[in-house]
Amino acid sequence: MSKEAKLDLDGKTYTLPVVEGSEGEKAVDVSSLRANTGYITLDEGYGNTGSCVSQITFIDGEKGILRYRGIPIEELAEKSTFIETAFLVIYGELPNRAQLRRFSDLLTENQFLHEDMKFHFQGFPAGAHPMAILSAMINAASCFDEGLMRWHWGKAKEFDIYAARLISQVRTIAAYSYRKSLGLPLIYPKKAYKYTANFLHMLFSTPYEDYELKPEVVRALDLIFLLHADHEQNCSTSTVRMVASSQANLFASAAAGVCALWGPLHGGANQAVIEMLEQIQRVGDDGSKFIQAAKDKDSSKKLMGFGHRVYKNYDPRAKIIKRACDDLFKVLHITDPLLDIAKRLEEAALRDSYFVERKLYPNVDFYSGIIMRAIGLPMEMFPVIFGIGRMPGWIANYKEIMEETKSRIYRPRQIYTGRPLSHYVPIDERK
Ligand code: SDX
Repeated sequence: MSKEAKLDLDGKTYTLPVVEGSEGEKAVDVSSLRANTGYITLDEGYGNTGSCVSQITFIDGEKGILRYRGIPIEELAEKSTFIETAFLVIYGELPNRAQLRRFSDLLTENQFLHEDMKFHFQGFPAGAHPMAILSAMINAASCFDEGLMRWHWGKAKEFDIYAARLISQVRTIAAYSYRKSLGLPLIYPKKAYKYTANFLHMLFSTPYEDYELKPEVVRALDLIFLLHADHEQNCSTSTVRMVASSQANLFASAAAGVCALWGPLHGGANQAVIEMLEQIQRVGDDGSKFIQAAKDKDSSKKLMGFGHRVYKNYDPRAKIIKRACDDLFKVLHITDPLLDIAKRLEEAALRDSYFVERKLYPNVDFYSGIIMRAIGLPMEMFPVIFGIGRMPGWIANYKEIMEETKSRIYRPRQIYTGRPLSHYVPIDERK
């Protein structure tokens, strides 16, 4: 493999170093390009641009490989839990018993919101989208925390507490936003319950009766969280890193990540998939009409839950979730016509040259909404579930920047294509 790249520009030859990652990924390091040549690189959508080196997650998009800290997602999905995997993603190693106990205790100690936060919930209209509430309330929660308001970059000891507080409180905020949307009284977390069970309790219990925690339902939701825990430099994680690079506090960076995640091309796709499946069901389409529309450049339709910037093979998470759908439905003795429609769409698309040629496969969002529907969540909550699951990955990326010796503020350049030098024209002289 060449150790350097040659660049011929304006009659001069420049040498640029080549970087190779631990899994053989290669990059031309252009950090010195502008200083040496006056040129910058241009890469709309950053499809060919690495913003950082990172040790958290490895994806091989061609082979459909995903590993958190080197461990294949398939093994973690089968053997681990969301909270154990969150520890792995944030701290780099699977926790021993004492570390897991301490992490779990920190989550329990930090799961309550300041009581005055309830006034903020009352301020939202009933139809407020829970992603808008989530982003707003993460920042609101930080206002009750002096340590966050006086955040000093790099305070590792406190970081553990704030990381646990964010993971724990984001779940409480999400549950409260769901209850608020239905005008129901808020249900407080229970000390005895583990993370995911407590979330279901806060969502679905009533003041008179605790929600019946079926182990299969708790396991299915915990698996959804685990599968979303990190995914290298996706749109929302890059947003978290962007905000973190200015040395804003952890909660502010996560709140920004929620906003980026909300978009239908990203974490909002799980809601968009269900809306798509419901529309196909409503019009009695067997899926073929929708697929034709999704291939038609003039239509605004896309096969939501399909395609990926990195995976040019089946998203390994989609495979796991599809199997989990079947398992959960079997155990709960339920069916969902939307699952049958989704499977038919997948079969038809994977036989269609348009999708095959563009290497468009199901991604994590294609089946995840089906499970969340089966659990009883409204589709507006689906991106919120994605955000709760992604919190450890955002925290790990924040920590990685914070611990970098020479972390610099993210400030991309641009190529200006606007008007040349012009001058102010008084209003009476304008056309
Ligand atoms: C997530 O980055 C991550 O890691 C994200 C994520 C994570 O864990 O953080 O994995 C989570 O966001 C998954 C993606 C969820 N989004 C969707 O399912 C929305 C539908 N998918 C597309 O919008 C699209 O595939 C993207 C946004 C996911 C990727 O877009 P790219 O990489 O910019 O690809 P593109 O739009 O340039 O598409 C290339 C071609 C185009 O056709 P041509 O111009 O070559 O003729 O493929 C077509 C696109 O029109 N295409 C689709 C399509 N996705 C791409 N055509 C129909 N339906 C689709 N879903």
